[in-house]
Order: sequence, then structure tokens, then C-alpha cells
Amino acid sequence: MTDKKVTLTLQDDNSIELDVMQGTLGQDVVDVRALGSKGLFTFDPGFTSTASCESKITFIDGDEGILLHRGFPIDQLATHSNYLEVCYILLNGEAPTQAQFDEFCTTVTRHTMIHEQITRLFHGFRRDSHPMAVMCGVTGALAAFYHDSLDVNIERHREIAAFRLLSKMPTMAAMCYKYSIGQPFVYPRNDLSYAGNFLHMMFATPCEEYKVNPVLERAMDRILILHADHEQNASTSTVRTAGSSGANPFACIAAGIASLWGPAHGGANEATLRMLEEISTVEHIPEFVRRAKDKNDSFRLMGFGHRVYKNYDPRATVMRETCHEVLNELGMKDDLLEVAMELEHIALNDPYFIERKLYPNVDFYSGIILKAMGIPSSMFTVIFAMARTVGWIAHWKEMHDEGMKIARPRQLYTGYTEREFNSALNK
Ligand code: CMC
Repeated sequence: MTDKKVTLTLQDDNSIELDVMQGTLGQDVVDVRALGSKGLFTFDPGFTSTASCESKITFIDGDEGILLHRGFPIDQLATHSNYLEVCYILLNGEAPTQAQFDEFCTTVTRHTMIHEQITRLFHGFRRDSHPMAVMCGVTGALAAFYHDSLDVNIERHREIAAFRLLSKMPTMAAMCYKYSIGQPFVYPRNDLSYAGNFLHMMFATPCEEYKVNPVLERAMDRILILHADHEQNASTSTVRTAGSSGANPFACIAAGIASLWGPAHGGANEATLRMLEEISTVEHIPEFVRRAKDKNDSFRLMGFGHRVYKNYDPRATVMRETCHEVLNELGMKDDLLEVAMELEHIALNDPYFIERKLYPNVDFYSGIILKAMGIPSSMFTVIFAMARTVGWIAHWKEMHDEGMKIARPRQLYTGYTEREFNSALNK
């Protein structure tokens, strides 16, 4: 709380004094909680000016292009850390000692297998189901298998559920892929890194040894780090809202996956690759840029723009570097990368994009990397969900640790006023 106050003057000359809260970084926040008791609500569809909670996990300065996890800059984490260390940091608030990290990794690897009966659940889905549909379903279904970690009021239960989710996501994500291509599921290998194990479960088969390429393993690890958390985005807010009723953690994460799926959020990586494929050559770019600017055309440049970043997304910078590394390693020249770079160049010099501060976001380059690794675009958002699970859990745990109120927004009602009901049915 600060000494600052905001005074709201109402039409009848009454006024309400509201406290101003100050964080360690970022905008001050007007505490509007007193308004409800005065018969007033605030109106902010899309939450463009609303801080929905207090949090110590992630900070974003969208104007400066800064992203900090527990105070650590994302570029330093992406360069000097690994995904499981970032998970530890997000969940616990501090960087681990070696002993703490070893113990954390051991616990994560001990939970990588899923209940064998869940494999049968997969077979209930149509073979051509979108892997995100399967991910939503199977994640929610975990609650039916792990009854011993469902009591959200018991801290130990919350901790076990957190480990289970973090550990099992790669297993389930790889199973979604294997199911979609008709190959047998591959069991997790606990001697491999988190990213290495995921690649192994994706690409190994019972008939052939699969050796994980260290450059691709590192690239996958980076993709996971860059997607690990992002403050109060749509899916994280969904997880918090679902969790605020006391719902079990598996149901809450399933809700997060559902929210992530949309093309304006996590689905953008798949949509970006589709768009680049549609553009296909540098010559076609001006036509697509023209369409993106046309208010009568619903087309948008996928992988461009962000609600919070009004500067280059710091994750996109690292992603672009990784993209070059992966293509070099694989000796590939990808025409889509050429299209992406030229599109970025044209858009960044176009007044429409400059005025609206539209820059490439994290999803602009990730699809090209994943495609080069041999991963189909339908799996992109699944991988995003796998990476973001730790962020969702960190927020869900923070909410429980600090005590919560059920999320219950109000509305501006613009429907009918009360009227008489007269049925037109023949009874
Ligand atoms: N292409 C063309 N115009 C755009 C784009 C775009 N990608 N993004 C925003 N605009 C325009 C928009 O038409 C509007 O113009 P005007 O002021 O003339 O009406 C202005 O920029 C502001 O857009 P907005 O929709 O009000 O901004 P928002 O903060 O509500 O939306 C966004 C943010 C990410 C949904 C949007 O930029 C978008 O749809 N981008 C493409 C999808 C995408 O890449 N999403 C991934 C986001 S990063 C990963 C994640 O969070 O999951």
C-alpha cells in the first residue's frame, strides 16, 4: 500500500477515496474493492486495465520488452539455465543449490510413468483427433487415477499433484503424437534429461535405437524455458479461476490447456506455421501484409502482436537464434525461415505495424524450429502446454498458499428488463 489515494467523484457530488497499491516493479494499482459496497462495479472486458491478483512469480514490462521469472531475466535463464532449474525457480522462488536441484530432478523422474490403464483411455479417441483434444481429456482424467493427491487443502497433496503433472506431461504429450501416427507408446527413460526424454518418447520405436541429438535436445529445452510462464495470460487466469473454487489440480490444468488452445493464445504457433506455408514465397508477402492491414479482412499476421509487449518479445529474440542453430545443425535451408525473416523485415518497417507496436512474438519462430525437428504442427500447442504446465502450477500453488476467494466477476447487464412470460407452445 502507498500513501497515494485516488478520489472518485460521483454525479451526486459524493466521493469515494480508493487506496493505491504499489508493487516492487510495474504499474501502481487502484484498489477498487470498496466500490462494490457503494453499489458500483468497474467495467473492463478483456481485463486490459485490471490486476486480477497479487503475484511474486513473473514480471513483464511490455514497453521495455522485459520478462523476469522470480527476478531473473529470461535471456539469462535461456542461456545459462535448463528447464528443470527454471521449474524449480518458478515453483520455489529461489535458484536451487546442487543438492536441492538433484533431489528435485529425482522426484520429477520418479513420476514420469502414467498409470497403465490411462493408455487404454487414449484408444477411446478417434485416431485423427487433434492432439490438443486428447491432451485436454487425458489431463483432466488424471484426477480419476490419483485420488491420493486431490485434497487441495492439504499442502502435501498439492505438492505431489504438482510433481505428478510436471513429470507426466511429456509422457502424455508424446503419447498423443504416437497415437496419432499409429505407433506404439514409448515408456519414459529416467536417465535422459527432461527434453531428451521427451524427444526419445516422440521418436524412438521398439525396432530402432534413437539417439537424442544434443543440439536438438538443447533447442527443445530452450523452447520449454521460453514458454514456462508468462504472468496472468488467458490460460493462467483460467487455471486460477478454475482453482479458486477448490477444483482439483488436474481439472484446473485441463482447463488451462483448453484456454491455451485458441489461436489468439497458444494456438498461434500452429497458426503461424500454416500462415508461412500459405505465404510460401517472399513474393507473396506484400499481399498478406495488405490483408493484415485491411479492416474488412479478418486475417491477422499470426505470431505478431501481443497484449502486453509493445516492443520486441524478448522470447522471440532467443527463439530466432535457436532457429538458426537448429537449421545449421540439421544442414537445412528452410524456405519458410526465409519467408519469416522477410515478413518480419517488411512488417517492422510498415507504418501500420510501427504505429500499433506490433512485433514478432514467441510463436513466430518456434514453429519453424519444431517443424525442422520433424514435429507436426498439430503438436506445437501440445508442447506449449507441456512447457506452461509449470507456470500454471506455480500460480495455482501461489493462490492456495496465500489464501483465495472464489473468482466471481460481475457484469454490466444489457438484456431485457423484467417481463411477463406467456408460452406460445401448445400444451
Ligand atoms: N496482425 C494485424 N493486425 C494486428 C495484429 C496482427 N497480428 N495484432 C493486432 N493487430 C491490430 C488490431 O487490428 C488493432 O488495430 P486497430 O487499433 O486499428 O483496430 C490493434 O493492432 C490492436 O489489436 P488488439 O486486437 O486490440 O490487441 P490485443 O491486445 O487485444 O490482442 C493479440 C493481442 C496477441 C491477441 C493480437 O495481437 C493477435 O491476434 N495476434 C496474432 C495471434 C498471436 O500471434 N498470438 C500469440 C500471442 S503470444 C503467445 C501467447 O500469449 O500465447
